[in-house]
Amino acid sequence: MLKLNLAEFTLDHFMQHYWQQKPVVIRQGFKQFQDLISPEDLAGLACEEEVYSGLVYKKRGKWQAETGPFESYDHLGKTGWSLIVQAVNHWSPEVAELVKPFAFIPKWRLDDVMISYSTPKGGVGPHIDLYDVFICQGSGRRQWRVGARGEHRQCAAHAALLHVDPFEAIIDVELLPGDILYIPPGFPHDGVSLETSMSFSVGFRGKSACDMLSGLADHVIDKELGSTLFSDPGRPIHKNQGQINASDFALIKAQLQSILDDDTLVADFAGSFLSKTKCALDLQPLDDTMDEADLLNTLKTQPLVRTGGLRCFYVDATVGEGACYVDGERHAFGLKAQAAAIALCDHDTVSHAQLRT
Ligand code: SIN
Ligand code: CO
Repeated sequence: MLKLNLAEFTLDHFMQHYWQQKPVVIRQGFKQFQDLISPEDLAGLACEEEVYSGLVYKKRGKWQAETGPFESYDHLGKTGWSLIVQAVNHWSPEVAELVKPFAFIPKWRLDDVMISYSTPKGGVGPHIDLYDVFICQGSGRRQWRVGARGEHRQCAAHAALLHVDPFEAIIDVELLPGDILYIPPGFPHDGVSLETSMSFSVGFRGKSACDMLSGLADHVIDKELGSTLFSDPGRPIHKNQGQINASDFALIKAQLQSILDDDTLVADFAGSFLSKTKCALDLQPLDDTMDEADLLNTLKTQPLVRTGGLRCFYVDATVGEGACYVDGERHAFGLKAQAAAIALCDHDTVSHAQLRT
């Protein structure tokens, strides 16, 4: 199992002083780190319809970006290009292992593991991300520059590549295999491969209030909730016809607030919304010859192993009813199943004993 090696500070110190605040290089964060997938297997994944991938390179000095699936890589030379594959943890159990050392951050904040294979001088160009990322250097060396947060002008170097203007580096390092570069959202950065290299990026994402409110609105509509009409019996005579006065404004806010004050509603929304995967999952067809008794018997000899990238959460407000949220769906297993629902969400591998309640 991969273990995070923090030589210069404790995890507590990292969370208090770096997480979401400033970038840092963790030298030899993974000792004796080896690529978790071969370049051939990565290139093979990028040929699959369900896998989101991209190629970035320069042609006559101009940035180019192509999206997968790819049929061939023959048009690329020996240098100056990168292959990026998203959510590789959904398809490779070995790559999914890279999520485990970051268990000090809850899974609902996790996005995915993105892998890039870069030839010498390859990279995606200087840019800003909206997420926290731990870039774990696999084989080969890569030069990384990171600038300070601030007002950086961004422009599209290509329709699919939002770049940032040149920036002054606050970090300028050569990453070696096993080194980790942590970058919070908003810090411009640029990684250029010094030789053929692999980078494994564990990304964490926060939703904006706009994302959350639009998701909440969809949830309320889907579940036919929030249909109580605005009501104002006993209203006093109104003076200024054009005015939404302070007491009306307070009633409008209270109407909206009543949705947010409903903990069950918000828990069902947050659990479903945040457990939805962005990318496809490696799901097997259900074996419908297996009934409940067969399943329980099988579990006695082999544990239930969660497929990479499947998101399973519970919220204190509803877990008392044995409710949990799996890939966008609420499942209510009943009061007696509370411990089982928790085990299912907290662990990637669950035994018969953990599920028996
Ligand atoms: C890369 O690995 O090529 C890009 C990673 C990043 O800059 O976020
Ligand atoms: Co980036």
